[in-house]
Amino acid sequence: MSQHAKHIADIRQDYLLAALDDETVGDDPLLFFRNWFAEAEAAEITEINAMTLATADGQGRPHARIVLLKGLDDLGFVFFTNYDSAKGQDVAVNPQVALLFFWKELERQVRIEGVIEKIDPAESDAYFHSRPVGSRIGAWSSPQSQPIAHRNVLDVNFERYQKEFSDIEIPRPPHWGGYRVVASRIEFWQGRSSRMHDRLMFEKNAAGSWQRSRLAP
Ligand SMILES: Cc1cc2nc3c(=O)[nH]c(=O)nc-3n(C[C@H](O)[C@H](O)[C@H](O)COP(=O)(O)O)c2cc1C
Repeated sequence: MSQHAKHIADIRQDYLLAALDDETVGDDPLLFFRNWFAEAEAAEITEINAMTLATADGQGRPHARIVLLKGLDDLGFVFFTNYDSAKGQDVAVNPQVALLFFWKELERQVRIEGVIEKIDPAESDAYFHSRPVGSRIGAWSSPQSQPIAHRNVLDVNFERYQKEFSDIEIPRPPHWGGYRVVASRIEFWQGRSSRMHDRLMFEKNAAGSWQRSRLAP
């Protein structure tokens, strides 16, 4: 093993901060997610809403990337993106997706699995119009996930749309909007000492109610 690989193999962390018991987690995983989110916020962790989104394409090949959680309601987890992007094409053929949060300062991971759907266009409009002007122009200017010949392509597009929308309210591009992940499985992971972590997992049963179980770490 090279020195570098040995160094990587030697990186390890024991998790001692907290424990997770069934009573604390309760019966409603969305409610409990909000509690953990609030605790991450109170701990002043940056970008707590950054989450990994995993999708699979038509050949079953997985693809993962970070997106930002922008809304959470009783229906699910909302983020915004380009509908024509690689992820947009993946979910058009396979709506089964996974989300992952890792709040390392709290030694916590949350895994979410479910089905994705486009949010209501009016909701996408409302969020789009709340964004800074530059981000709105950017949504028009970037053919997300497409090869571009040069960085300059973006600058040229940006200038073009800046001019085009200089006197009018910037409309939401038809290819840009929100998705909601409707969860059917949510797992809360709290790191514990000696790799004896706590894992509490919720699964929605056929009747639509959440069943909780504890998984071995
Ligand atoms: C911290 C962070 C936040 C991001 N947030 C978003 C987001 O909310 N929406 C989005 O489309 N891409 C976001 N991205 C970029 C994506 O990771 C990705 O590069 C892009 O969406 C293209 O992915 P795709 O080609 O798989 O569709 C973010 C990246 C990082 C590192």
